[in-house]
Amino acid sequence: MAVEIKIVPGVAALNRVAAAEFKSAAESAIADRGAFRVALSGGNTPRSVYALLAQEYKTALDWGKIHIFFGDERHVPPDHPDSNYRMANETLLSQVPIPPGNIHRIRAELNPESAASDYEAQLRAEFKLKGGELPRFDLVLLGLGDDGHTASLFPGTPALRESTRLVVANQVSRLNTFRITLTYPVLNNAAEDLFMVSGKGKAEIAASVLRKSGAPEFPAQRVQPANGRLLWLLDQDAAALLPSQEAKG
Ligand code: 6PG
Repeated sequence: MAVEIKIVPGVAALNRVAAAEFKSAAESAIADRGAFRVALSGGNTPRSVYALLAQEYKTALDWGKIHIFFGDERHVPPDHPDSNYRMANETLLSQVPIPPGNIHRIRAELNPESAASDYEAQLRAEFKLKGGELPRFDLVLLGLGDDGHTASLFPGTPALRESTRLVVANQVSRLNTFRITLTYPVLNNAAEDLFMVSGKGKAEIAASVLRKSGAPEFPAQRVQPANGRLLWLLDQDAAALLPSQEAKG
């Protein structure tokens, strides 16, 4: 499985390239399958990407055929400042003509286990899954934490070992909380996994995660779509410590 690494000058370029990737993935999925199913990332990096999508593609995309899911959620209600849903709603979903029924949020106001099984049921219904079938997202947006986590797959947590469930409640003792997260079987069944990584603060972990040799050490390294595209989009600051051959991108 080839890893594509794209390095762009700065965060503005990263936003533009990420938004363009979203647009092209949406257009081809809608053309081929009549719908585009995308899992959004949380955290800070995607905020400005979502805002740009709302600004630039409000009328250019067929939002009626776009279904929004979430890669993970914090164990908070949807109006909480830490809610990934709230962030995505404020920057994107409330700004574009997307039918409310196309927004599939994680009901993290429930207890963690119920939120996880509820979201698994939502995925099974929306993707019309039978038995052990996996959902195939057209695009999964991901970030990289400074400890090498992605979605809410944190180092040393139980979710890293999940091989059958689609969504789990993951106890993250480092944060003393639960997170609800998609699992590796789902991330690795996607048509495209797109990592967006920005800023000096991520240079060290990005270099460790993207090094060529050695067994996967960090959770983000285990995102390896079996039959899909893996694209790492970094700005120059985040790519600062990548071995030079990588810098050419
Ligand atoms: C979350 C995310 C998480 C995030 C990384 C990077 O809910 O926080 O899904 O995996 O992508 O922590 O976050 P930043 O973009 O804020 O650096």
